[in-house]
Amino acid sequence: MTSPIVETPIVETSRLINYNVEEIRQDFPVLSQQIYGKPLTFLDSAASAQKPQVVLDAIQHYYAREYANIHRGVYYLSQVGTQKYEDARVKLQKFINARSPKEIIFVRGATEAINLVAQTYGRKFLKAGDEIILSRMEHHSNIVPWQILRDEKDLVLTVSPIDDKGNFLFGDYEKLLSERVKLVAITQISNALGTITPIRDIITAAHKVGAKVLVDGCQAVPHMRVDVQAMDADFYVFSGHKIYGPTGVGILYGREELLNAMPPYQGGGDMINSVTFAKTTYNDLPHKFEAGTPHIAGGIGLGVALDYVDGLGFDNIARHEQQILDYALNRICEVKGVNLIGRADHMAGIISFTMDLAHPHDIGTILDQDGIAIRTGHHCAQPVMDFFDIPSTARLSLGLYNTEQDIDRFIDGLHKVNRIFS
Ligand code: ALA
Repeated sequence: MTSPIVETPIVETSRLINYNVEEIRQDFPVLSQQIYGKPLTFLDSAASAQKPQVVLDAIQHYYAREYANIHRGVYYLSQVGTQKYEDARVKLQKFINARSPKEIIFVRGATEAINLVAQTYGRKFLKAGDEIILSRMEHHSNIVPWQILRDEKDLVLTVSPIDDKGNFLFGDYEKLLSERVKLVAITQISNALGTITPIRDIITAAHKVGAKVLVDGCQAVPHMRVDVQAMDADFYVFSGHKIYGPTGVGILYGREELLNAMPPYQGGGDMINSVTFAKTTYNDLPHKFEAGTPHIAGGIGLGVALDYVDGLGFDNIARHEQQILDYALNRICEVKGVNLIGRADHMAGIISFTMDLAHPHDIGTILDQDGIAIRTGHHCAQPVMDFFDIPSTARLSLGLYNTEQDIDRFIDGLHKVNRIFS
């Protein structure tokens, strides 16, 4: 039922030339809302990005007109759903430049993807004494699955350090590499600091000692073109909801030969070829890892989100976001008592900070009263908070729809925090 049909991008090509952010904002219905009588200023896209109307329409259309279970029915609706879901897989393949759609496994999100690799690849191929390297700034979802595996298999987890600005220390990482290291699991962009890691070099160095590399691409895919072949990743994971797609769907990319060698993760329908009480044989890739009815509308919606982002063009998005980031970094320095947490040499659109006079939760609450949404807390990255000796930060994160006006409102909000607490 797989078909290599790729739908034409929905966004007209004129946008490629002229990135008109005000026009683009009209694509996101949520952004035109008032919150407590104030215009919504959404600065929390690293947690979850807002959805363009085309994604909402695609989900609505699927449920209203095309809904049926997939991979199971010979009738029209089931065939249409199957076709659209498998088309979305092909879009994902092309989006990250995987070799084949078989290398794209639909999962609930990056968290499930990492757990899948830990519990299948890790359980089968790692043995007592083997080492896994993580970085100091990993999200909990790229720490805890490996701790569970470590405790089960008596592995060693090693933490690759960062400096006071949040830079990944590549020289120190190289020193940690040895033939005992079997896996490196590392983020491409830190969700807590915005640091961009030198992922290509990290992978090349790991491969020299024979280690496999899993890349957490959650914060990278919305901001930059990812090419898993050029980067030479063994596994690459991301969640759909951070790239303007639905929640509850994401992907695990794995090299075909690795996925073939791995045992299944969950057992159930669709992942089998034949079942008797004596013996079960498993389906081919990618279905071997996709037990049960999947998030069909989610996969289809994610495909449409990728079309949308592709239509705008990564060069345009990156240029726009960099402009807003520079503006925000300049303006935030005007505010008294702000401490930036992480100021790496290469950063994506994330600014983590504390304020002398107010706790991050108070900052978030005061900004919220003016309709400004930021995230506060440890950002599911407690080890990096410990490194900076703080329990939490306030965090602004950018999406392709943010404007200088959003930053102006945010800065006004920080001045208000200072007035309230002084
Ligand atoms: N990992 C998401 C964040 O950074 C939820 O906010």
